[in-house]
This record gives sequence, structure tokens and C-alpha cells, in this order.
Amino acid sequence: MSKSILITGGAGFIGSHVVQLFVEKYPEYQIVNLDALTYAGNLENLKSVEGAANYIFEKADIQDADALDSIFAKHNITDVIHLAAESHVDRSISDPMAFVKTNVFGTVNLLNSAKKAWAGELENHLFYHVSTDEVYGSLHDGGFFLETTPYDPQSPYSASKAASDHFVRAYANTYKMKTVVSNCSNNYGPNHFPEKLIPLCINNIKNSKPLPVYGKGENVRDWLFVKDHARAIDTVFHKGKAGETYNIGGFNEWKNIDIVKLLCKKMDEKLGREPGTSEKLITYVTDRAGHDLRYAIDATKIQKELGWEPSLQFDEGIEITIDWYLANEEWLDHVTSGSYQEYYSELYGKG
Ligand code: NAD
Ligand code: DAU
Repeated sequence: MSKSILITGGAGFIGSHVVQLFVEKYPEYQIVNLDALTYAGNLENLKSVEGAANYIFEKADIQDADALDSIFAKHNITDVIHLAAESHVDRSISDPMAFVKTNVFGTVNLLNSAKKAWAGELENHLFYHVSTDEVYGSLHDGGFFLETTPYDPQSPYSASKAASDHFVRAYANTYKMKTVVSNCSNNYGPNHFPEKLIPLCINNIKNSKPLPVYGKGENVRDWLFVKDHARAIDTVFHKGKAGETYNIGGFNEWKNIDIVKLLCKKMDEKLGREPGTSEKLITYVTDRAGHDLRYAIDATKIQKELGWEPSLQFDEGIEITIDWYLANEEWLDHVTSGSYQEYYSELYGKG
């Protein structure tokens, strides 16, 4: 195998699309998926690759330095794509320390294991850190986040991601590790855990349950189809310049309330309901504490320098997403009932 790539968080939403893309597109690479299988990790996301000759799964926590060292040695890891994280803003508000432990401490552990494993030849190996646009803070007066926008994280989640980004850049500067960072906007698509806005609304519309809209629903997010993010990660991994940062986004801004109404309209059509039926489920609830008003990525650099651009328009992507959730009732049932967590023991025969 020409490379042995450690992908962390590969059982999660974005990670599972990255793992699938790399396993299928690069049979010459060994892909090692390291995941702790927290509530957000679901091996059912990876059924299509679980028998592939170039795919290995390692259940491990990035907080466990010894486990990381032995996985680097056992699989002769040549490169890292780091996605493992606690990712939900609302959870970070109720339990910030879990975010410090995984996103900050865990990332530093991973950097240390990579530095140890690659000692004396750091220039031959890449540590790619996947981050978020939330590190730039909240936009209030128009404009876009550029790679040069100063960091201004506003939630415990974004503060922990910002800290991890700083550690990656500090290792590049101090130890001359070859690193690259990308900061992406909101993703949507198949395998998205239904605690996040879009899959939560799809699931609730399907089950005629209330659709909780925080505040007035005026907050704006910039949405990108998850497979386009996976393609961007592939592009940055292969073509990105060491030490650089790349912003990834869809130039696709939506107010939350407009997204929720769009989902209602499309699902009324698909479920054969009277127009307007699902909109009645919209329920305005107490706003998220410290809720960032607007995120918007300027993705010009990755487009111009690396030639990546989104392949899907939002209308197509949202159709694919709704259809996927309607066609994958079993996935949704397993996730909402918690039974997806038994899949690991079924597959690997241990707890
Ligand atoms: P996710 O919550 O769906 O998946 C996270 C994965 O990491 C899960 O499989 C989980 O089991 C694993 N994990 C968590 N803690 C771990 C630990 N301590 N050790 C090992 N594995 C652990 O997250 P996601 O939405 O797929 O996000 C992936 C990455 O992309 C994160 O770093 C996130 O900050 C970033 N990101 C997400 C978005 C988005 O819209 N979802 C946008 C930009 C960037
Ligand atoms: O911008 C990238 C980030 O996008 C990622 O780094 C995060 O990991 C990811 O979770 C996402 O963060 P958001 O907070 O933007 O996503 P979420 O789906 O939680 O919320 C989207 C918007 O919808 C936000 O303004 C809050 C609002 N919302 C969310 C939920 C879950 C609601 O109004 N009601 C809800 O029930």
C-alpha cells in the first residue's frame, strides 16, 4: 500500500463519507478508521466498505495516548486526517469539559503520537486537521469569513475547535510538522445524526412532531452537501500546500426558518400531505445561549488554488437528503432507539 492513512472520527457523519470516498477511490491506500464510537459514531454508516481489503477499523479514544501510539506502530501510519470531535453546539453548552477532553486534549494526543511515529522524517508525512467556520465567530454586518479572519469563537464547541486549530499550527511552527487545516461551513446529507437541525426536522416532520426553531429562526447558516465536503477534503489532502488553511463552503446562505419551511413543503409533497400541513408543526422555542447570528464562508481560495467547487445545487442536495432519510427508515429507527450502538458487537463480537 502506498499510504496508510489514519482517519479519525470515521464512523461519524462527515468521517463516514470521507472513509467511503478514500476506500473506494484509492485501493492503493490502506485506510485505518479510528473511532471511539460515542453516541455520534455509527458503524452502520460504513456498511458499504466494511469488507473492503484496504479498510481497517480500530475502536479507540483519542484521549488514550498509549492506544494511539500502538495504532500508529501497528499500521505504520503515514498520514492523518483528523475529524474525531464532539461536534454539537448545544451539548457543548451543557457539558463544555467533554469538548475540552476530546477536541483539545485528544487533538494534542494525536499530534504527539504522530510526532513520535514520524520522528526524523516529519516532512514526509501529513497531519490534516478538519475544522469548522465557527472558529471565526459570528457575522453581524455582511461580509464573509476569509482564511485570514481573526479567530473569535463564541461557544464552548467553537472555543475547543479553535484551540485545537491553534495547537496544530503551533506544532507546524515549533516542530516543523507538515500540517494543513480546513474550515468548513454547515454540512447536510445522509448519515447526519438527528440532533442537528436538518435531520431533526426531517425526522420530526415524518413523525408529525413539533419542529423546534430557536429564537425567531433568523440565524443564517451556509450549507454544503456532505459529499462535496468529502471531495474537498480529498482535494486538500492531495493538493493543499503544507502550512496552509483552506475555507470550504457552498456560497449557500439560508435563514433557519426558511430551511424549515422548505423541508415542510418538500415533505408534504413527498408524503402526500395537504400543502401547509407540516408548517403547522413549527414551534418557536427559547433561543440557544449565545447563538451565533450568521456564518458565511468565502471559498474562493480553494476554488482558485486547488480547483475544487461544490458539485450540487442546494435544491438537488436537499432532495437527495430527504429521499435518503425516507428510504433508510431502519437507519433512523436504529439511531433514534439507540440500537445502532449494538452493531459494533454484532460485527466485531466484543463490547
Ligand atoms: P459527528 O459528531 O457526526 O462525528 C464525530 C465522530 O467522532 C463520531 O464517530 C464519534 O464517535 C467520534 N469521536 C468523538 N469523540 C471521540 C474520541 N474521543 N475519540 C475517538 N473518536 C471520537 O461529527 P461530524 O459532524 O461528522 O464532524 C466531523 C468533524 O468535522 C468535526 O471535527 C467537526 O468539528 C468538523 N465539522 C463539522 C461540520 C458539520 O456541519 N457537521 C462542519 C465543519 C466542520
Ligand atoms: O458551521 C459548522 C458547524 O455546523 C459545525 O462545526 C458543527 O459541528 C455543526 O453541528 C453545525 O453547527 P450549528 O450549530 O450551526 O448546527 P445545528 O444543526 O445544531 O444548528 C443549525 C442552526 O439551527 C443553528 O442556528 C441553531 C438552529 N437550530 C438547531 C436545532 C438543533 C434550531 O433552530 N433548532 C434546533 O432544534
